[in-house]
Amino acid sequence: MTDPQEAIDAESAARANERDPRIEEQTAGEVQGGIPFIGAGPGDPGLLTVTGRELVESADLVVHAGSLVNSELLAEYCADAEQVSSIGKDLEELVPLMRDAHESGRDVVRLHSGDPAVYGAAVEQMDALEHEGVPTYIVPGVTSAFAASATLRTQLTLNGVSNHVAFTRPQGKTLDPEDDHIGEFVGMGDVTTCVYLGTHAVGETMDRLLEDGHDPDTPVAVVYHASWPDEEVIEGTIGTIGERLEEAGYRASAMVVIGDAARKAGYERSYLYDGWANRGGTESEADD
Ligand SMILES: C[S@@+](CC[C@H](N)C(=O)[O-])C[C@H]1O[C@@H](n2cnc3c(N)ncnc32)[C@H](O)[C@@H]1O
Repeated sequence: MTDPQEAIDAESAARANERDPRIEEQTAGEVQGGIPFIGAGPGDPGLLTVTGRELVESADLVVHAGSLVNSELLAEYCADAEQVSSIGKDLEELVPLMRDAHESGRDVVRLHSGDPAVYGAAVEQMDALEHEGVPTYIVPGVTSAFAASATLRTQLTLNGVSNHVAFTRPQGKTLDPEDDHIGEFVGMGDVTTCVYLGTHAVGETMDRLLEDGHDPDTPVAVVYHASWPDEEVIEGTIGTIGERLEEAGYRASAMVVIGDAARKAGYERSYLYDGWANRGGTESEADD
């Protein structure tokens, strides 16, 4: 097997020169040849897409993202398949495992939590497999920020409150402080900031926001295990959420939503259902 880093470099270089023809030929949601990288959704098996479910049901080998994929989903849809958790395995182990199974004629699926496109590290596995001659593709899923917003019964964009959404993560072992942009997003005022991979660092993140002079009354909601049976919502503000989360004791697997949309207050009726057609709006602006 080619060294995964060399494979990734080679695939990236090839992309710089030639566009992948499959971008033109195939659509998202289409079942294709090779190994699908499937978004399992946030947890509830019902939030797996129909295509994702069909692929998982017919798989012989399911490589999944460990505890972030609900074991109920695995029990319900692929109890007879071989199931392997990717936790603790590097590319050197995962790639030959999936390649060999695929080449021996077994149906292989790679199950990521939420959507593979958000903090999923899917592309590096796909590149390493493609370099070995194994085609891959993505089947999208419901990312946890969307499950959290559904739990909070809000919209991440909300007229008059939030015009933008940021999917972000806090500084830590894998992100340098200068690459932590949470303060900038919050400072923009009309952004709903969804913090992934930051449950353990909510206190420090809020302290930094306070030190930088952000409004301590800015709403923050933390949704632990959105869509799971043990889901819990902890609500507060930049000034209070750190202590509340500390009391609740969650250190992982939560979505932190910062901004007024988390509280669904103060929004304005949108043009769309307010005489929009009479204001000269175009069809493309009306897409909802
Ligand atoms: C490695 S990232 C994977 C994100 C995933 N690809 C997605 O689209 O949701 C893991 C982080 O996603 C968030 N997360 C995943 N599942 C969640 C859930 N059910 N409820 C809340 N947050 C979740 C947490 O912030 C967790 O630290």
